[in-house]
Amino acid sequence: MAEEIRYFELNTGAKIPSVGLGTWQAPPGVVGDAVTAAVKAGYRHIDCARVYENEKEIGTALKKLFEEGVIKREDLWVTSKLWCSHHAPEDVPVAMDMTLQELQLDYVDLYLIHWPFAKKKDVPGFGPDCVAPLDIPATWKAMEKLYDSGKARAIGVSNFSSKKLEDLLKVARVPPAVNQVECHPVWNQSKLREFCQSNGIHLSAYSPLGSPGTKWIKSDVLSNPVLSMVAEKLGKTPGQVALRWGLQRGQSVLPKSTNEGRIKENFDVFDWSIPEDLFVKFSEIKQRRLIGGQFLVHDLSPYKSVQELWDGEI
Ligand code: A2P
Repeated sequence: MAEEIRYFELNTGAKIPSVGLGTWQAPPGVVGDAVTAAVKAGYRHIDCARVYENEKEIGTALKKLFEEGVIKREDLWVTSKLWCSHHAPEDVPVAMDMTLQELQLDYVDLYLIHWPFAKKKDVPGFGPDCVAPLDIPATWKAMEKLYDSGKARAIGVSNFSSKKLEDLLKVARVPPAVNQVECHPVWNQSKLREFCQSNGIHLSAYSPLGSPGTKWIKSDVLSNPVLSMVAEKLGKTPGQVALRWGLQRGQSVLPKSTNEGRIKENFDVFDWSIPEDLFVKFSEIKQRRLIGGQFLVHDLSPYKSVQELWDGEI
């Protein structure tokens, strides 16, 4: 009998459900139904962010699910993220309150610094004019206050390299519970994963299917021959294999879907497993980062190259 792997324990003692619904690029008008379908299919974890511009509709869907008694607040895990425009310490609680108001919640289970990059509020885009001073320790102190207040029951980061985590750990009173990063069989984050494991930081995988629907990403994760072979042998889909691979490596996975069939498919990953002889085949897959963060790289950015953004983990 396969180990189900329904939760992972964070350094706060909280249990993060292992499969969460991703909501990046889930448009308003659709995202509410996706959240409802996911919760009804058994999901207990919804991954949100203010910059996705859909938290309001997610909040309406959640309110209805609570009111109808489909689920209780305490049985659901909701993550949101601080956008780059609100890194200034005085802006952090403002951003948190806006998110809580839109989600119609008193607290989130996890609040993350979305990117290690700070931008001005009033300048759209990511060009040279938008850059604001980056002071992660100061932003983190404000995140710690949210943790103290109970509005964020856990705090963490997203898109941080091992080096940036190491720097943060040196100054943190509350260590980050999670680093949410791109992770799938074609970008397995082996170095970062090891760093996180040895420092008690949970790695959460965004784009766990390689974001096949994103126009600017040349994604070939689901057509990878190793995934196809394993999927065929186990009678599963490549998507399910990619997700189960993540669970067996100890990372939570956040597949986005707005299609009810695929929402259900992506949650059907608990009563089977990838056996060791097939699991080892994943190490043969040539590695390639799909989301490089090039939009943050220019002359006036703290990052003059993608190597600097990821501190060489590229
Ligand atoms: P859709 O929303 O129409 O289901 P990721 O989570 O890696 O960013 O990938 C999300 C993309 O993958 C979306 O375009 C989503 O489309 C698609 N997708 C979600 N689940 C599956 C699946 N099981 N198989 C193939 N594509 C999927």
